[in-house]
Amino acid sequence: MNRDPGEIAARKRLILALDMPGAKEALELAETVKDVVGCFKVGLQLFLREGPSIVERVARLGVPVFLDLKLHDIPATVAKAVISLKGLPISFLTIHTAGGIEMMEAAADAASSLDSSLALLGVTLLTSLSESDFPQVGLMGSSQELVLRRAMLAREAGLAGVVASAREVSRLRQAVGEGFYLVIPGIRPAGAGNDDQKRIATPQSAIALGATHLVVGRPISASADPGQSARAILSMIEEAQREPI
Ligand code: C5P
Repeated sequence: MNRDPGEIAARKRLILALDMPGAKEALELAETVKDVVGCFKVGLQLFLREGPSIVERVARLGVPVFLDLKLHDIPATVAKAVISLKGLPISFLTIHTAGGIEMMEAAADAASSLDSSLALLGVTLLTSLSESDFPQVGLMGSSQELVLRRAMLAREAGLAGVVASAREVSRLRQAVGEGFYLVIPGIRPAGAGNDDQKRIATPQSAIALGATHLVVGRPISASADPGQSARAILSMIEEAQREPI
């Protein structure tokens, strides 16, 4: 598994979030952009609606699948949940780092017993939580510190990388070094709207700051021409790879 950001092909870095209400819409969108994006992300909405078969149907398009289930439970339950995915063609799976190191280790053991090419990613902190929410849920310190601490724990537990916001990516890359995936949502090309994302970055800046992968949803899925929008974002990734800041 290649986790050196400089060595990953531009297309492989582009993950499209298939945040669609059902299989029909998701597969239509996926078909349109399957030659441009490197991975399709199936989230809770689509997975719970359609069941595991949606993963197989998306994978049949010949593009890797990222299953974004954000698992968070006791270690034995999370390990068994990972084992339950046996046979499904999944390249990335998310778990919550807040579940602690034992939970992450149990998930990593389960994943490696399934398929060594399955990369487990730790969700560091939901971007919907801001520091002003911390006291209410018993969290302390700054969000940067928390994300950094959880990312280090994820690496210690044997995870392949973490999901974090663009705000943290530079510090994270410095702390974890190379060889660890940093997967960044909240990506907006310059001049595009924010939608509900609070901490956004352009594709070029996220890559320059050390992201290995970008998760993009609405800038492609809500575009009048998803194929053209995906190609434009791919060009921005290529530009950032060609001309590092
Ligand atoms: O449409 P947009 O580009 O904002 O979609 C971003 C995708 O990344 C969505 O699937 C969203 O659930 C996901 N995501 C996020 N923030 C996180 C984790 C995942 O926006 N912290």
